Amino acid sequence: MLGPELHTYTRNNEQLVLTRPEFAHAVIMLTWAQDTESMNMLAAPDSEPLRDKANIDTEIERIHGFENNDDNIIWAISYNGRLVGQVWIDKDKEIKVGHISTIIGDKSVRNKGIGLAAKSRVLDWAFSDGGFECIEAWCVAENTVSEAGLRSLGFTYTGEDVNDEIVAGKYPTRHHYEMTASNWEKAK
Ligand SMILES: CC(C)(COP(=O)(O)OP(=O)(O)OC[C@H]1O[C@@H](n2cnc3c(N)ncnc32)[C@H](O)[C@@H]1OP(=O)(O)O)[C@@H](O)C(=O)NCCC(=O)NCCS
Repeated sequence: MLGPELHTYTRNNEQLVLTRPEFAHAVIMLTWAQDTESMNMLAAPDSEPLRDKANIDTEIERIHGFENNDDNIIWAISYNGRLVGQVWIDKDKEIKVGHISTIIGDKSVRNKGIGLAAKSRVLDWAFSDGGFECIEAWCVAENTVSEAGLRSLGFTYTGEDVNDEIVAGKYPTRHHYEMTASNWEKAK
């Protein structure tokens, strides 16, 4: 599913628009999918085979699939009018539970608070119009940037496990976090 258009600001008061991924984004998204560092940090299921097989056709097909996929809700992140990343919620089997992920694929705009602001705006939506009661997140133990962001937003650490997918030649340790609707009200 495509998320509704959402507006927000970074900590530097720069406007972000969370909007629908377009076919025209495929060329830029392909550069992210082919970036080893980003994919290793994202540690998406099957990220290595996906990265190795990614091409413009698979990206267009992926974007096409977003619209009709009821298992997740996805936004493109637009900063100064250009695509810089994506944020999405995968729906859990358990009703009203989701899992949030973010990528700021454009490395030239990392560490400007875009990831934090995008996640924060999506959490606002998730716990209101989205109807979620709990949003989970995990990051690989090496992903200190993602982990700092989750802590900074007020996510609660719930434990670690070992990923069942091989990433960068090993089964990485994952750190799990969660945010409930009531904790988000307090954290804001
Ligand atoms: C993780 C990611 C989404 C963060 O987005 P971002 O816009 O660069 O990060 P932000 O500017 O919002 O900062 C998030 C936190 O990380 C910290 N941080 C950002 N860049 C950092 C860096 N290079 N070194 C150390 N800390 C850093 C920020 O200080 C902030 O923590 P704070 O609130 O305690 O200050 C981005 O780095 C990314 O896309 N990485 C690759 C994919 C990935 O790892 N996705 C997340 C897995 S779910």
